[in-house]
Amino acid sequence: MAVKKILEFGDETLRKVSHPVEKFNLRLNLLLRDMADTMYKAEGVGLAAPQVGILRRVVVIDIQDDHGLIELINPEIISAEGEQAGPEGCLSKPGRRGYVVRPQRVTVRAQDRHGKYFELTGEDLLARALCHEIDHLDGHLYIDIEDHEVTEEEEE
Ligand code: NI
Repeated sequence: MAVKKILEFGDETLRKVSHPVEKFNLRLNLLLRDMADTMYKAEGVGLAAPQVGILRRVVVIDIQDDHGLIELINPEIISAEGEQAGPEGCLSKPGRRGYVVRPQRVTVRAQDRHGKYFELTGEDLLARALCHEIDHLDGHLYIDIEDHEVTEEEEE
């Protein structure tokens, strides 16, 4: 178990564009392990490598459904449909949420930890998480596109 420090909004690393992963090696496996440990410890549903200071195109997601832990290397959104609007947060700013419009359904093409390509389609929360985490790889944060900050009253 290796829990990493999560960088907070304002840290310039979060604004950088991450590099593609080219080597599917032990170092990548250790990064994936540490990212999952860090995400679970923080009780989040997703984490991108730049949030732990690593500028590589790596994402982990677990929305606590049948998918279990999803590992995405070099992910790209290849199609998006529909629209959903709702509150969204980020482990880089615990406690804060913004009202963000996202696609209702997205399909992602990515590589697994061995370098093998696969496609994954997600709806609702999974679509939101996929968009949010992949945005991190280009230095984009939900606060850039939110309509407004969600207050506690609005959540209820
Ligand atoms: Ni985030």
